[in-house]
Amino acid sequence: MATSEDVIARVQQYAARNYNPIPVVLERGEGVWAWDPEGRRYLDMLGAYSALNHGHRHPRVVRAAHRQIDKIAVVARAYYTEELGRLVEYLAKLTGLDRVLPMNSGAEAVETALKVARAWGHRVKGVPPGETTIVVCDNNFHGRTTTIVGFSSEAPYREPFAPATPGFVSIPYGDLAALEAALTERAVAFLVEPIQGEGGIIVPPDGYLREARRLCTERNALFIADEVQTGLGRTGRLFAVDHEDVKPDLLVLGKALGGGVLPVSACVGRAEPMDAVRPGEHGSTFGGSPFAMAVALAALQVVVDDRLADNAAELGAYTLQRLRSQGLPGIRDVRGRGLLLGVELDPRVGGADRVCHELARRGVLCKGTREHVLRIAPPLIIERAELDPAIDTVLDTIDLLTG
Ligand SMILES: Cc1ncc(COP(=O)(O)O)c(C=O)c1O
Repeated sequence: MATSEDVIARVQQYAARNYNPIPVVLERGEGVWAWDPEGRRYLDMLGAYSALNHGHRHPRVVRAAHRQIDKIAVVARAYYTEELGRLVEYLAKLTGLDRVLPMNSGAEAVETALKVARAWGHRVKGVPPGETTIVVCDNNFHGRTTTIVGFSSEAPYREPFAPATPGFVSIPYGDLAALEAALTERAVAFLVEPIQGEGGIIVPPDGYLREARRLCTERNALFIADEVQTGLGRTGRLFAVDHEDVKPDLLVLGKALGGGVLPVSACVGRAEPMDAVRPGEHGSTFGGSPFAMAVALAALQVVVDDRLADNAAELGAYTLQRLRSQGLPGIRDVRGRGLLLGVELDPRVGGADRVCHELARRGVLCKGTREHVLRIAPPLIIERAELDPAIDTVLDTIDLLTG
């Protein structure tokens, strides 16, 4: 069996250089734990950027995957499957929306929402083709396709891949006056993360989402919530827009929709915009395959039946309070909702990467979101007895590195 050292050497030599991983090799996972080839155990406080809300290999999701793979796995959308029907019905009813368009990655589901918005803008709102605008927020993160990075405000995400797709207007996050000004006749949609995840766990001012929803209705523009990271229990409610009782026109889901087993994403929406895209105008070979749909259905059922959002609300509030109450000089701010928390570090600590390397040495897996923000986003199945020692380790490590 390959050692950690062998694995790292092979990956470093042959894999493309688009990542710079922490030197930890993971070969087995169960629940909130993962092990390296040498048998060292790690508590997973990153949860694969919220793809692991269910933890590693959740038994109910794994059972559904095994059952389905023994029947049929991949069917093109040229045909019907029972699994597709079951998933789209469950997800439509769960969200109170009408139509579900399954894709694979989060970025593809965002792209789907953008295409739906443009098609609706031309065909229903009546904006001349090629003249629609979509309003987005500064500091956003919606994925890595060429169109999406084109409206990123992060130069390293955007600049090497110019020219950008036209038709996007970016405004400051949380700024309702800017939104009102940007929602012109030609604006067909406002795309927003209810909490900016990759942007440093930024929670908008209270009432922002509700008022943004109202403005979109008033100006006849679609409200698109990108809940790829915040959805499915992560912030202590099923969806982060639920904190403000907001119903989006389009809801974008990914990550945890795959139950920690597969990439599964979806754009879910009201019938009017969704029906603006006609047969043949959009799709994906693997999107909606019975294997993915069976896994996604089990994933959703676990979120609902096991009340993962309630656990996130309770343990998230507890973690936030513990991290704040220490008053460590190395911690400038702790923010977030549910189990999507960001610890803003004092620059003296030396950056989130430095903390993550030391945490890994001590058996806790974490990752930064911005240079000085440590993200805490463990699986939502975590228990307090597992969380407590990890919080101790995080506090201890930050204190040690503050010097
Ligand atoms: C809010 C949001 N949207 C979209 C994406 C892209 O998802 P994926 O990496 O599956 O394409 C991410 C990924 O982090 C995200 O946080």
